[in-house]
Amino acid sequence: MTDYESLIAQAEGLTAGVPHPIANMANVSALIYESAEDLNWAGFYLLEGDTLVLGPFQGRPACIEIPVSKGVCGAAVRENRSQLVPDVHAFPGHIACDCASRSELVVPLRRNGAVFGVLDLDSPTEGRFTEADRAGMERLCAAIESSL
Ligand code: SME
Repeated sequence: MTDYESLIAQAEGLTAGVPHPIANMANVSALIYESAEDLNWAGFYLLEGDTLVLGPFQGRPACIEIPVSKGVCGAAVRENRSQLVPDVHAFPGHIACDCASRSELVVPLRRNGAVFGVLDLDSPTEGRFTEADRAGMERLCAAIESSL
């Protein structure tokens, strides 16, 4: 199980006072990928108009553009809420960037209440993400989103 107190403290420590959003996203994706077990992808997509564009991440090369109308990431933006998907094969419109991915957690990033991107986590294990992960990753995003 992920120690979110520690993870959030480390993420805040890495990003506080650093005026470089790309560097901060790179470091936070690396931190999450190293700290949370059983992930095959961890990273960011940033909203440009109606398209999510690939940002800093850890894992295999991924889809560069995701229309907001598509995928788990698009649903997180459209619905302005996190998406916890225990089995991506059962999610209509899921975009398979890495065929090893079996479950997914996507958390919207907000600035002044408006979504500007998402944090996307993939796991090769079905049902990998819990409500505790959703709550923990939402707290992490809230703690660092002013640095992104
Ligand atoms: N599976 C995502 C696409 C991004 S990759 O997982 C990195 C989706 O359906 O939005």
